Amino acid sequence: MQNLQINLKYSKMSSNGIMSYVNVVNELDKKLRSRADDEKEFLGWLKLPQNYNKREFDKIKRTAEKIRRQCEVFIVIGIGGSYLGARAVIDSLKNNFYNMQDESKRNSPQILFAGNNLSGTYLEELVDYVSDKDFAINVISKSGTTTEPAIAFRVFREVLEQKYGIDEARKRIYVTTDKEKGVLRKLATTEKYETFVIPNNIGGRYSVLTPVGLLPIAVAGINIDELMSGAAYAMDKYADSDLRYNVCYQYAVTRNILLKNNKNIEIFATYEPKLHFFIEWLKQLFGESEGKNGVGIYPTGAEFTTDLHSLGQYIQEGRRNLFETVIYFDKPRTNITIKEEEGNLDGLNYLAGKTINDVNEKAMQGTVLAHYDGDVPNIQVLFEKLCPESIGHMIYFFELACAMSASILGVDPFNQPGVEKYKTNMFKLLGKPGVQ
Ligand code: PA5
Repeated sequence: MQNLQINLKYSKMSSNGIMSYVNVVNELDKKLRSRADDEKEFLGWLKLPQNYNKREFDKIKRTAEKIRRQCEVFIVIGIGGSYLGARAVIDSLKNNFYNMQDESKRNSPQILFAGNNLSGTYLEELVDYVSDKDFAINVISKSGTTTEPAIAFRVFREVLEQKYGIDEARKRIYVTTDKEKGVLRKLATTEKYETFVIPNNIGGRYSVLTPVGLLPIAVAGINIDELMSGAAYAMDKYADSDLRYNVCYQYAVTRNILLKNNKNIEIFATYEPKLHFFIEWLKQLFGESEGKNGVGIYPTGAEFTTDLHSLGQYIQEGRRNLFETVIYFDKPRTNITIKEEEGNLDGLNYLAGKTINDVNEKAMQGTVLAHYDGDVPNIQVLFEKLCPESIGHMIYFFELACAMSASILGVDPFNQPGVEKYKTNMFKLLGKPGVQ
């Protein structure tokens, strides 16, 4: 099983400082776990990797196989927690150029996303792109009322119905939503669409291992059994309430001590471009869970070495309120060895025999040291291989770390009251009935 290591050597935090939270963490862990079986709490994700609905899981696998045969393009409609998890996992595990590959190489439908913005241009261009292709859609919304996906769904429903007729269109619409509540559930029941249920006790940003994420991930041809088993392994590994033996909680505590030391911005950094959307998922997970009541660490992201040539200067010498959490995979799936060249005109022969990954690793080590020297504490989250198991493991690791970290901060990790403010203003401006 893929294991995770956490390196706190460059975090500038002392082991004694971290361990002074042993009792606090113990208490908070007990509180979290004591509420895990309460259906009214948003803690369903805590035992999910070992306690998931096996029938729904099998249905996801069967339906994914059907969708893979049914269409060339699969459009996933959703926003926030109903979007980022699937995209994070698919991008992390598929070829960088997956959607551009020939069908024979890809072996799965192209996966495209909609309903995650309000750009008419984006939607129109996507409609145009799929108009001459066989496509199906998966609309995902827990509340069933979110404006962005609702609009995109209306648009694509019409396109599907015009292209295939009402009956065939119906076979190409998959709905993931609440068991009973919301307009989307009502619509799906009326129109007899195939549906998947988002458990009541799991909030959007903790829902990637429910049908929200699993259906699109399975359609992309990723082994969801392995993804779940990575998460199940993590669930066991981080079940210990004792901070001394739980590296997930050590990470949560370290970031809180850093915050107390005025390090109020966390840069999630990667050296692998495939993890771009995993970092977007992390930004949402931590941002929505912790940023409330005037507190919280502002989560942001960077892709190195790309961003060393844009943000690097600021990170090294700008305001000293940053720390970095670096996610690094030791063994890439493929690698290129740099060859010796006659004449050495580009001066790169000193690298001959090394792989690009060797160079990337040295860039990582050099950057960690440079940022540490520049007073940017570094936490390293290290894995051997990028694979479904390690991604499943990481998902659980960060979900639990986030819940613990927000609990230490004294905020509710599972609500997002601030998100309503823009919606109310927008609805007022749009004249939505019933909104004052
Ligand atoms: O984490 C959350 O709860 C949010 O980001 C939601 O996922 C997001 O607002 C979308 O909500 P819904 O699934 O109800 O459309």
